[in-house]
Amino acid sequence: MRPQEIIAKKRDGKALSDGEIGSFIDGVCDGSWADYQITALVMAMFIRGLNRREQYAITSSMLNSGTIMDFSDIDAPKADKHSTGGVGDKTSLIIAPLAAACGIAVPMVSGRGLGHTGGTLDKLESIPGYNVNLSFARLKKVMKECGFGLIGQTKQIAPADKTLYALRDATATVPYIPLIVASIMSKKLAEGLDALVLDVKTGSGAFIQRFADSKKLAEELCSTGKAFGLNTQALITDMSQPLGKFVGNALEVYECLKILRGEADTTMLPTLELSLALTANMLIQCGIERTLDAANAKLRKVLGSGEALDRFRQNIELQDGDPKVCDKPETLLAKRLAEIPILAAATGYVSEIDTFAVGRAVCDIGGGRVKADDGVDHAVGYACEKQIGDTVRKGETLGVVYCRSKKQVDAVGEKLQNAYKITKEISRITKLIKATV
Ligand code: URA
Repeated sequence: MRPQEIIAKKRDGKALSDGEIGSFIDGVCDGSWADYQITALVMAMFIRGLNRREQYAITSSMLNSGTIMDFSDIDAPKADKHSTGGVGDKTSLIIAPLAAACGIAVPMVSGRGLGHTGGTLDKLESIPGYNVNLSFARLKKVMKECGFGLIGQTKQIAPADKTLYALRDATATVPYIPLIVASIMSKKLAEGLDALVLDVKTGSGAFIQRFADSKKLAEELCSTGKAFGLNTQALITDMSQPLGKFVGNALEVYECLKILRGEADTTMLPTLELSLALTANMLIQCGIERTLDAANAKLRKVLGSGEALDRFRQNIELQDGDPKVCDKPETLLAKRLAEIPILAAATGYVSEIDTFAVGRAVCDIGGGRVKADDGVDHAVGYACEKQIGDTVRKGETLGVVYCRSKKQVDAVGEKLQNAYKITKEISRITKLIKATV
């Protein structure tokens, strides 16, 4: 069938057959569909909608545009965690070693930061030497030795998504749930997992901000996972403030190492809480523990004994990084950075934080990218000293910008100060974990 006939059918609001969807995805991969035809169909899908069958068909075609990883020679349950992305969202670096220390094999395929959100690969690359570009054979070897491997997207994993996602990003068609589900699940299903735990963010720093929409996304992700035989669970979690203390690549790795070393301060505790909750659910989905209480007890044990930290040290060494950062996390922090405080404009309670604005500010000082091929400055970032519900006096420090020059703060300082809403009355405190799907 010719592309224009498939486009016309969706333009007129009709459901596409599995064959038509397959032909579209083949055309995306072999170049026989032009970019303008791909984007015309995607826009028609966005406006006219896709039903569940079409959502499954597009997921299946995207999955089968590449290969499915085979870890059958690793004698452990295989599981991963995927987050829809947020500001200061660094839990992967804690979850992978924790889960591995509990007997799960974790092939974690991650992405880079774009816009206001950070990416696990950029965080890892702030560890000197760390290599995220492993071949499949090497990933398996690393997993066999330390229980987990952290790599970037490869050409073999759902290749159709790379082209489609770039075109969706450029044509304002990213925020449509069936396309998001197909994009995320085709990549996760390609990892050959037994279980998947999803962290679906909601709030001012999430790319889907309203709770009802996040819940719908979580439900569709889970139902698609189950339709493909993958044990999938989602937690809907708060992104109405940055997660934990730091936003910025090296600073976030530092926070994770402090947590793995048992040296977290109170502003880091939400990162620990969310990491434990997501990993506990992984243990249950993998059949390693039956209750959340038992799973949490096991996690506290491998954290307290230093076993999770040892796994991370081992992983860093196996992926060519410098494991000494595990013993001296402060070596990750660049010397000679300017540290400029952001001061409260009023006295009261921190009742709201525009998390998108915080993520954007870190991006603007070089900590993130505006375009996919921009470079990042791993050292810069922001420390959140005050969280929602905290009291603050006028002139007190809300957070600290770590940057290269005072000029950078002139550009973002006011935006960061304005990102905090300070009220006389205490607002309702947001729960970190809002629902389980
Ligand atoms: N993340 C993805 O991987 N795909 C989307 O479409 C949106 C977020």
